Amino acid sequence: MPVMSDTASFGFQEVPAAEKASLVRRVFDSVADRYDVMNDLMSMGVHRLWKADLIATVAPRAGELALDVAGGTGDIAMGLVAAAPGMQAIICDINAAMVARGRDRLLDDGILPGLGSGGIALVVGDAEALPLPDRSVDIYTIAFGLRNVTRIDAALAEARRVLKPGGRFFCLEFSHVVLPGLDRLYDIYSFNLLPALGGAVTGDRDAYAYLVESIRRFPAQPDLAQRMAAAGLDRPRWRNLSGGIAAIHSAWRL
Ligand SMILES: C[S@@+](CC[C@H](N)C(=O)[O-])C[C@H]1O[C@@H](n2cnc3c(N)ncnc32)[C@H](O)[C@@H]1O
Repeated sequence: MPVMSDTASFGFQEVPAAEKASLVRRVFDSVADRYDVMNDLMSMGVHRLWKADLIATVAPRAGELALDVAGGTGDIAMGLVAAAPGMQAIICDINAAMVARGRDRLLDDGILPGLGSGGIALVVGDAEALPLPDRSVDIYTIAFGLRNVTRIDAALAEARRVLKPGGRFFCLEFSHVVLPGLDRLYDIYSFNLLPALGGAVTGDRDAYAYLVESIRRFPAQPDLAQRMAAAGLDRPRWRNLSGGIAAIHSAWRL
């Protein structure tokens, strides 16, 4: 149970830990309708390449069950199932508006939500208290989600809990730029252009200022790998994407 002195970062602010989830929820409630178009605009489509890289890295197989936490509008779950017909995926997200967008996208693609071969189910749930039994999934993915949870370590421990022995963990997240020179350009883009673009497209400049700030507060690549190991995830490793603007961390549950 959180104690009164518990705090968590919400962008550059420290807020009472008990308030962070509702602040994050407000961000995604506000941008849910324009979330997909905004992803394309702000990354110039590159988020699609990163997500494709994640799906290729996971290399799912028929018969496996994947859990995509903070799955939002469903890009990762849909990509996994398309990559391995016969596998199944569950999208779990804390935000009902994002899950509703995901459900609409499935229906638009002619997919009736639900489990079964090639199926995708949707559930509203918290990464820190997943509504799934122990040792129930083969693959755990979280894309651009871990940064938003209140307690990263609790979410990592939950990932381990729900993975079957031999199961695999993957996190795609904005990370820390490692290419000299790119960091300055990225700063200019992030702190100036991106919030303005977000404001123009979604009407919520603050949501995109939060995005930029939360990226800076997120643990650097080696720190996250250490925290994965501390949560009991085995052989953590990472691979940088686009000079470290993003990274894919992975590990095993033994
Ligand atoms: C940036 S979006 C990423 C969505 C999707 N994975 C993608 O890559 O497009 C972050 C998502 O994390 C969800 N989220 C935030 N905190 C969460 C939590 N504690 N548990 C589950 N989902 C959470 C938000 O509702 C939002 O849909």
